[in-house]
Amino acid sequence: MLYDVIVVGSGISGLYAALNARRAGLHVALVCKSNPLRSNSAVASGGINAVLKTTRNDSIREHIADTLNGADKLGRFSAASAMAAGAGEIIEELQSLGVKFDTDENGAIAQRPFGGTKAKRTCYIADRTGASITQTLLVQCRKEGVEIFQNHVMLSIATFDGKLSGITLLRRRDSNVIAFACKSLVLAGGGFAGIYRGHSTNSQESSGDILAIALRSKMRLVNMEFVQFHPTTLANSGTLISEAARGEGAYIVDENGVRFTDELQTRDKLSRDIVRHQLAGHTIYLDFRHLGEELIDKKLPSARKHALNGAGIDICSELLPITPSAHYTMGGIWSRNDTSTDIPNVFVCGECAYSGVHGANRLGGNSLLEAAYFGRLAGSEAATAAKKGVFHPIDYAIVAKELRYVESILEGENRFNINTMRRNLGNNLYNNAGVFRTHDSLANALEYVHYLMKMSSGLCCINKERNDNVELLSIIEFRNSLTVAEAMVMSALAREESRGSHYRNDFPEKDDKNYETNTIIRRLAKAFLRISFESHLSSDWWDRIRRLFHTQIG
Ligand code: FUM
Repeated sequence: MLYDVIVVGSGISGLYAALNARRAGLHVALVCKSNPLRSNSAVASGGINAVLKTTRNDSIREHIADTLNGADKLGRFSAASAMAAGAGEIIEELQSLGVKFDTDENGAIAQRPFGGTKAKRTCYIADRTGASITQTLLVQCRKEGVEIFQNHVMLSIATFDGKLSGITLLRRRDSNVIAFACKSLVLAGGGFAGIYRGHSTNSQESSGDILAIALRSKMRLVNMEFVQFHPTTLANSGTLISEAARGEGAYIVDENGVRFTDELQTRDKLSRDIVRHQLAGHTIYLDFRHLGEELIDKKLPSARKHALNGAGIDICSELLPITPSAHYTMGGIWSRNDTSTDIPNVFVCGECAYSGVHGANRLGGNSLLEAAYFGRLAGSEAATAAKKGVFHPIDYAIVAKELRYVESILEGENRFNINTMRRNLGNNLYNNAGVFRTHDSLANALEYVHYLMKMSSGLCCINKERNDNVELLSIIEFRNSLTVAEAMVMSALAREESRGSHYRNDFPEKDDKNYETNTIIRRLAKAFLRISFESHLSSDWWDRIRRLFHTQIG
């Protein structure tokens, strides 16, 4: 198959990219490994940030300042300001595509407060914003002629003489390896918080495949140590209870009914407060009871449903036990402001990308905005590149290599239990590379990841069925998870300070002198990763920003 543009990933960034490339009159394929509605975008429920009009309480400048404050000095000013300035247009475009944001009594788009700001800046559709936007974009992509390939798993980027020629894929229908040729490629395959299995809000499919592929393709990964733990997830499963709950006024309390923290501070700080309180022997709850059934049913219906289904609790009358779980990964594939990457004609957007916006910690409501803003941009950049580009031949040695890889998993003799291994990886990472880390805990995690890497060569399919073999997909995903886990833990070991979501008990202070910089990890050869720090921002630069905003940042 030949396409001008291929987009991998069906969250908001991928759908937006595909739609925009298609609107440039090109032949576009969107590839995703399962149901397009299972992405993390569909999970992010609470809303999308945008300053819709300047008021005494809010402005685009405030949005930029809050975003950079949250990023804890690692945000890229140019990217954050472009995104904040473009937010209003994104909301208008989503409306024109059919997204029906909730409105206030005057018919204007309603906005709620989210963590890390004093302003009401988050537009929403009850507490299912991500799912509604995803559905609308998916329908639109279909209507406008984007070819959608579900159940196709990307295996590698194909290059010829260093130039992009296409991608290889596992076709789940028959477990065959196929290749699609393209002139440009958009990677939008999501982050990797799902590798904290059992302690994550993400679907089980969030295994960091695209980041693992990028690393194997010698692309740079940036700031992998910054994993965001969402403060309010069901204590027994990690299911997300949206920040919308706190935005609408729910409290965080302990078993004595004591509110011990500020519910609308940024997620990194709130998660630390909660875990510290847990370590002191307390049980933590979300308290919705004072909000009343009418408001809960109107604005937080998903929270009520998740609590009932997942914990058997009616939040209108009972306290809901919660705990922080891995939710979002700030790090990703290195990219420029225009979404281009280390490989010409390959673009990235959404959670798998390092866009520079979120730095060391992302604000709630900024992920859907980032996905939409940079997704749309990646679509146009990829279209422009494709119009200028040509097809390069696919090197079938690459296809043959992937075929051998798949066959070895399908035909080999299994020696281990994948479910236990995945679960153990999640537990180990949560305990050792979680909200709090130390050198020793991270070294323990790294050793465990290396042990699992060795064992994983003994993971093969018990069921040899070729039609939609779920085990085959799980093994491929698990091996990718290990690649990404290694990069994440190594980056966390290298950053000997505390900043944003990365808190080292053995280095509890922020160390701007040595670490006001991005961590870069790159694969030089098989089993050889190199970590370095990119020189980033000078203090001078920060002084200029402070003066510009007349506000205290950092
Ligand atoms: O809590 C939430 O609704 C999540 C939103 C987000 O991650 O931006």
